Amino acid sequence: MDSSKLMLSVPISLFILVINLCTVPMLGCFDRIINFGDSISDTGNFYLLSGKAKTSIGALPYGETYFHHPTGRWSDGRVIVDFVAEQFNFPFLPPSVGGNTPEYFQRGVNFAVGGAAALNNSEFTRISGLNTTLADNSLWVQLQFFNNLLPTIANGSDVSTMIRNSLIFVGEIGGNDYNRGLAAFVPLEKITTWVPYVVSAIGSAVNDLINLGATTLVVPGNFPIGCTPVYLMQYQTNRTEDYDPQTGCINRLNEFSVYHNTLLLQELNKQRMLHPNAKIIYADYYGMLLNVYQNANDLGFESPLFACCGFEASQYHFSFTHGCGDEQSSVCVDPSKALSWDGIHLTEASYHAIANGILNGPYSDPPLSKLC
Ligand SMILES: *[C@@H]1O[C@H](CO)[C@@H](O)[C@H](O)[C@H]1NC(C)=O
Ligand SMILES: *[C@@H]1O[C@H](CO)[C@@H](O)[C@H](O)[C@H]1NC(C)=O
Ligand SMILES: *[C@@H]1O[C@H](CO)[C@@H](O)[C@H](O)[C@H]1NC(C)=O
Repeated sequence: MDSSKLMLSVPISLFILVINLCTVPMLGCFDRIINFGDSISDTGNFYLLSGKAKTSIGALPYGETYFHHPTGRWSDGRVIVDFVAEQFNFPFLPPSVGGNTPEYFQRGVNFAVGGAAALNNSEFTRISGLNTTLADNSLWVQLQFFNNLLPTIANGSDVSTMIRNSLIFVGEIGGNDYNRGLAAFVPLEKITTWVPYVVSAIGSAVNDLINLGATTLVVPGNFPIGCTPVYLMQYQTNRTEDYDPQTGCINRLNEFSVYHNTLLLQELNKQRMLHPNAKIIYADYYGMLLNVYQNANDLGFESPLFACCGFEASQYHFSFTHGCGDEQSSVCVDPSKALSWDGIHLTEASYHAIANGILNGPYSDPPLSKLC
C-alpha cells in the first residue's frame, strides 16, 4: 500500500468510528412510541380490521423484502416508524386493534389505519361536499381509541406521566383527505380550500395530546405528491412546462404539498406558542424525499418515477386496473433500488432513507436521535 492510500484510510476509519458512536440506541428518555396516521405508517390495523381479507396487502409481494410474508404494511418491508423503533432498540409498534393487555402496549402502540384521513367523515363531507363510504378511521377517531385504551396502557400508573414519557408521532396524516378529492377529479383549486381545515384538525390533535400530558411530538408534513406514479398517470399532460425538468415530477402537485406544509408549520408555531413546554418537532418528509428524487442516481435509486410493483406494459409501471399483487402485475428486480413500491406507497428503501433523515438530521429539528 502506498503512503497516499494509508493517509486516506486513517480518516475513513475515524469517520466510521464516529458514525458508530452516533447510532447507539438513545430512546432512553422514552418508555413508549405512540403513532397516529394512515397507510404510510400502518403496521397492521387495516389488515386486522378487514378480517385479514384477501386484499392486496394481505398477500405477497407485500412484505417480501424484510418480513418475507405480508404483515398489513403497505410496502415491501418496514415503514418509517419501524426504523425509528429499531434505532432505539424497541420492538416494532403493535397495531392498536391487535391486542388489549398492558403487556401488548408495553413499548408502544400504533393507531394508524390505511385510508385514514385527518378530518372525520362528517367534517370531510361538510367541507368537500363529497360523500365517503369508507369506515371513519380518522385522526379524531384514532384519538378516541387512544383515550379508551389509556387505563390499559398505563396499567395502574399515572396516565399523564405515561403520555409525558412517550414519543408521539402525529402523522403523516392528511394525504388521504386530498387523495379522495384528487381521485374524484375535484379541481386542485377547490382541494386547496380544504387545506386550512385539514391542518387545523392536525393542530387540534396536537393540542389534545399535549393537554393529556404529551411533551414530545413529531408532526411530519406531506410528501411531494407530484412525483407519485398514480398522480403522474392521472395528471399527465403534453406541456413540458408542467413538469420539473430535473425530477420529472408534476410542478403544481408538488406546489400543493408545499402549501399544505407551509400552513402546517404555521399551525405548529401556533401550538408552540400555546404550549411553550412541549417539544413539537416538524419532520420534513417533503424536503427529504425531494432531495432523494433530485439525486436518485447518486443515492443508488433507479427509475425513481416508476412503481416497483405494478403493471409492466403501463407508463410509470402503474395501472389503475392492474395494481400490485394483481395476477398481471410484476415486481422489479431489486426493490432496494426503487423509490415507489406500488405506485402510491414507498419501498422499504425509501422509508429507510426518510427515517435516517429525521433520526440523524437534517430533516427534523432537532434530529430525533438527539432528543435524549
Ligand atoms: C401491570 O400491573 C400489574 C399489577 O401491578 C403487574 O403485575 C404487571 O407486571 C404490569 N404489567 C406491565 C406490562 O407493566
Ligand atoms: C351524499 O349523501 C346524501 C345522503 O345520502 C345525499 O343527500 C347527497 O346527495 C349525497 N351527495 C353527493 C355529492 O353524492
Ligand atoms: C396530447 O396532445 C395530443 C395532440 O394535440 C392530443 O391528441 C392528446 O390527447 C394530448 N394528450 C394529453 C394527455 O393531454
